[in-house]
Amino acid sequence: MNENSDKLWAGRASKSADSRVNDFNSSIRFDFRLVMEDIRGSIAHASMLGRRGIIPAEQAAKLVDELEVIAGEVVRGELAPPADAEDIHTFIEAELTRRLGDAGKRLHTARSRNDQVATDFKLWVREECLAMRKEFAALVRTLLNLAEKNLETVMPGYTHLQRAQPVTFGHYMLAYAQMFLRDCSRLTDAHERADGCPLGSGALAGTTHPIDREMTAELLGFSAPCENSLDGVSDRDFALELLADLSIAAVHLSRLAEEIILWSSTEFSFIELDDAFSTGSSIMPQKKNPDVAELVRGKSGRVFGDLTALLTAMKGLPLAYNKDMQEDKEAVFDAVDTIRLGLSAFIPMCETMTVNAERMREAAGKGFINATDCADYLASRGVPFRDAYKAVGGIVKYCIENSKTLETMTLDEYRLFRPEFEEDVFEAISLEKCVEGRCVYGGPAPKEAAKRLAAARARLSEYTEAE
Ligand code: ARG
Repeated sequence: MNENSDKLWAGRASKSADSRVNDFNSSIRFDFRLVMEDIRGSIAHASMLGRRGIIPAEQAAKLVDELEVIAGEVVRGELAPPADAEDIHTFIEAELTRRLGDAGKRLHTARSRNDQVATDFKLWVREECLAMRKEFAALVRTLLNLAEKNLETVMPGYTHLQRAQPVTFGHYMLAYAQMFLRDCSRLTDAHERADGCPLGSGALAGTTHPIDREMTAELLGFSAPCENSLDGVSDRDFALELLADLSIAAVHLSRLAEEIILWSSTEFSFIELDDAFSTGSSIMPQKKNPDVAELVRGKSGRVFGDLTALLTAMKGLPLAYNKDMQEDKEAVFDAVDTIRLGLSAFIPMCETMTVNAERMREAAGKGFINATDCADYLASRGVPFRDAYKAVGGIVKYCIENSKTLETMTLDEYRLFRPEFEEDVFEAISLEKCVEGRCVYGGPAPKEAAKRLAAARARLSEYTEAE
């Protein structure tokens, strides 16, 4: 027996671990973040051990009381782990043993750090699924407010970044609201699927002690224990799922950020960012830079990296626990912190930006974005759509050659191409009419978009009222 080691697992080895191994192995600098979950898990475990008579009831009670004392000290910042602590689990157990002696040493009966860490981390991830959902719900609220104010703000819609058909800025914001509502729904799913308590899985093969897994699961807010002890300790799907959900959300954030960067350029000038949410240049006095949007776009790469790191760490691991799995925490913490920090600046940046409706309308008036409507006009007068399409193609060519737009063509000029044109073509191609006419379900017509806005608000309230 190695008497010199202070490690909980000292016993088998004849030497203490080399200090370089300790440094490399230790996870306390990042897993201290799980301290409250670790204490909650230990309170549930100790209570269960006492209830089942696996340890003396009065010792279980002492453990629970002392764990609560420790929690209070941590909250008040009075207790911090020594730099050479191994991880949060051993630190709390050592602390209990220092304070309570034998009772502390009994806490780990019928438990392993493997089911302990899986439980702690799952508790943390489950809470964060809901907390992240709340963050995205706040973004959705902002986008819906922007949509509401801009249901009639006509702007060009694009494909291939070429002006395509008229939409409204409100409709555009509703598109992003849909994406982030799906993110909220994915986070809800992730929270629900992470509903199996690993505690009681032991190191990998459960335990011979007569524990009550239903009791600990219930105390920790799970509806049931995990079904299989090997899976209980080796599953990190819950972490991967949160990372995957955040990665998809980061794609959405990055796309919106990209649009905001484009729109705030002089070339577009569709929006102007508030001075408080933009930055200047150290050399070019005229510059107003969209740093917040750029960083949100850039940091999406970090979040994908976190997902890739954990997928790669997990992919070849044999059952059950392997130390590789310690890599799970930093990836998830980083992704959560990155998204939270990004949203804290991104949401108010969206709230405070000025929408330049005139500029959008002007851009919509150029580039023939009502050409489809012109062809539709002919089609509704009996011209087969393909012929109508060709005729309007010819009209657009004529306009370009003669510096005209569809609006400034005369009726006689229109009739050079098709006799079906009448005076009412001008109404049919007016941009406001083109948008109004797109009143199909999910279309940009203000009346239709208002209905979808109401539906989106109703969905949002499911997430905000659930809290
Ligand atoms: N710090 C470890 C982790 O995060 C705790 C589990 C240690 N288990 C073990 N068998 N070494 O994964």
